[in-house]
Amino acid sequence: NGKYTVTMIEGDGIGVEISQAVKDIYAAAGVPIEWEPVDVTPIIKDGRTAIPDVAIESINRNLVALKGPLATPVGKGHVSLNLTLRRTFNLFANVRPCKSIEGCATAYDNVDTVLIRENTEGEYSGIEHVVVPGVVQSIKLITRPACERVIRYAFQYAQSIGKTRVLVVHKASIMKMSDGLFLKTAQDIAKEFPDIKLESEILDNTCLRMVTDPEPYKPVVMVMPNLYGDILSDMCSGLIGGLGLTPSGNMGDKVSIFEAVHGSAPDIAGKGLANPTALLLSSMMMLRHMKLNEYADKIESAILATLASGPANITRDLKGTASTKHYTEQVISRL
Ligand code: IPM
Ligand code: MN
Repeated sequence: NGKYTVTMIEGDGIGVEISQAVKDIYAAAGVPIEWEPVDVTPIIKDGRTAIPDVAIESINRNLVALKGPLATPVGKGHVSLNLTLRRTFNLFANVRPCKSIEGCATAYDNVDTVLIRENTEGEYSGIEHVVVPGVVQSIKLITRPACERVIRYAFQYAQSIGKTRVLVVHKASIMKMSDGLFLKTAQDIAKEFPDIKLESEILDNTCLRMVTDPEPYKPVVMVMPNLYGDILSDMCSGLIGGLGLTPSGNMGDKVSIFEAVHGSAPDIAGKGLANPTALLLSSMMMLRHMKLNEYADKIESAILATLASGPANITRDLKGTASTKHYTEQVISRL
């Protein structure tokens, strides 16, 4: 029937409400997508956290999923489901565009950069053990193939959106071997892309420079190891108004999962106050990935026009007064 099917993981807490907003807006815009909702309540398989088979089958069949927030236990309990998903489908590049939005005022209005984070290893490898009580070792695993694929992806991404520089962010001054390998791989891969300039910067300096003046980062796609990307992407998100506004896509060779990276906000769940923008903008990345650009352009313009239209139409996290439903209706009225 000419429709695409996309797996929908609504997520915990506010996940249900923000997913509903996406569904309502897509229906109103006539997007040819049928949603296939799946439950990802974790199961234990061979002693490890795993995604239920029905969810895995759905994602493998549809190749594209949209995902709301899944609560992550701190310091104990099962392995993060978010990470399990990234690992299960080998989603090696985490793409996080970060662009100032009119109507959402912050210290700067000229942020426009893209972070690409290695998404499968580094400190996120989950290899930790107690040596003796009070002494713990965590292994930061860096492999050449994982560096190569994410760095090559970053160069291709820069090319595809017309950015002229790839900036590798690292700490090879201290992590001489692991970050040294990441940096060296970037220098090697750069030879495949003579039109794109490779630059490198040490992570702490990037943080300092970025919050001082985001302008020099405009022509740039940044690429970095996993944990640095986790932290730096939240920092950049803060520069544009927070995680409620920042999209994200986890890209693999076959499967991709687009997700809002904010938490499940249990304190406001079910109250109709949640801001669906991050999930919506993540779904715009999804539409463009699926080559449904017309729909992406149309919906994105309506979202941006709504965000720019004043406090009555935006949610409380953005210093507005709107409910999720009112915001959704305002977006629909601008389609
Ligand atoms: C993110 C999140 C996740 C991460 C958590 C929820 C496991 O913070 O996507 O940035 O640490 O990668
Ligand atoms: Mn994070």
